[in-house]
Amino acid sequence: MHLTPSYNGDAQGMSGKILVVDDDMVSRAAVCQMLREEGFVVTEAVDGTTALEQFSKDPPDLVLLDVIMPEPNGFEVCQRLKDDPETRLTPVVLLTGLESTGDRVQGIEAGADEFLSKPVESVELMARVRSLLNLKRFTDDLERAENVILALASAIEARDPLTEGHCQRLSDYSSRLAERIGLGPEDVDACRIGGVVHDVGKIIIPDAVLMKPAKLTEDEWVIMKQHTTRGEEICKGLKSFKNVLPIIRHHHEKRDGSGYPDGLSGDDVPMNARVLQVVDVFDALRAERPYKKGFSVEKTFSILREEVEKGWWDPDITEQFMAMIEEETAA
Ligand SMILES: [Fe+2]
Repeated sequence: MHLTPSYNGDAQGMSGKILVVDDDMVSRAAVCQMLREEGFVVTEAVDGTTALEQFSKDPPDLVLLDVIMPEPNGFEVCQRLKDDPETRLTPVVLLTGLESTGDRVQGIEAGADEFLSKPVESVELMARVRSLLNLKRFTDDLERAENVILALASAIEARDPLTEGHCQRLSDYSSRLAERIGLGPEDVDACRIGGVVHDVGKIIIPDAVLMKPAKLTEDEWVIMKQHTTRGEEICKGLKSFKNVLPIIRHHHEKRDGSGYPDGLSGDDVPMNARVLQVVDVFDALRAERPYKKGFSVEKTFSILREEVEKGWWDPDITEQFMAMIEEETAA
C-alpha cells in the first residue's frame, strides 16, 4: 500500500505548499505573489517536465497548472499525476484561458479537481485553494488511518511466520478474480485491501489460541471466531473501507449457513467475501505446514470442488477462480 505525501499545512488548513506551473512568467509571478501574501509556501515550475521532477523531489499539497504549455501540456501533466497512485490524491487546479466546454471536459477526463480562468482573481483563487487543501488534509488523515490498519494486519501476519506472504497473495488473487467476474472498481479495490486486512481482528486473539499447534477447544473456538466481528469494529470508522467491511465480517460464512459469525446462507453471503474465501481456502491448501505438505493444484481443485458440493463456496466464483489459475499456469 502506498503512502501519499503528508499535508504540509497547519491544523486549520490555512497554509500549505503549492506548486505553480506556468510557462508565462508574468502570470506565474502574479499567482505566486497572491499565494505568498496569504502565507502559502510556493514553489514554481516553468514547464510540465520540470513540474513533474519537482513534484517527485518535494511533493506539494496542491498543484496550480496552466493548460497551454509546450509538451507536456497541462492536461498531460494532470493525467500523469492522476494516473500515479503515489500522486493521485494531490489536488490539481487547471488554470485556463479557454472557455470552451470541450477543454473543461478534457480537463475533467485528465482528473483535474478544479478550474480557474485566467487572469486569476485573488478571491476566487483563495477560495478554491483553501477548500481543496482542506480536502487534501482529510484524505491524508484517511490515508494515515488506512495505513495504520494495514500495518496492524502486517504485524498480525508476522506473528505467524508460517503464513508469510499469504495476505499479499490473497490480495493479488482476489482483486484479479473480482475483476474477472466483472465487479466494479470499488469492489476490486475492496478485494485488494480485504486480502491484507480480512484477519485484522486476530489482534485480539491470544497467541495461545492463535498459534495453538493442536485442535482448539470449544471455548477457544468461540474466541477465535470473534476475529471477524472485532476486525469489523476496528475498521468500521473508515468510510473508505465500506466495501471491505463485509469481507472482514463475513469471510468465514458458508453458503449452507454453517459458517460464522452470522450463519448467512446462499447469496446473503456478500459477493466480496465469497471472492476472498475461495482464494483463502486455495492458498491455505497449497501452503506447506509442519503438519502437512502443500497440496498440488489438482488436489487443491478437487478439494475445492468437494467443498462446493458440500454447499460451502460459490460454485461460479470457484470455477472462475480455477479457470484463472489454469490460464495463468498454462501461460
Ligand atoms: Fe479469518
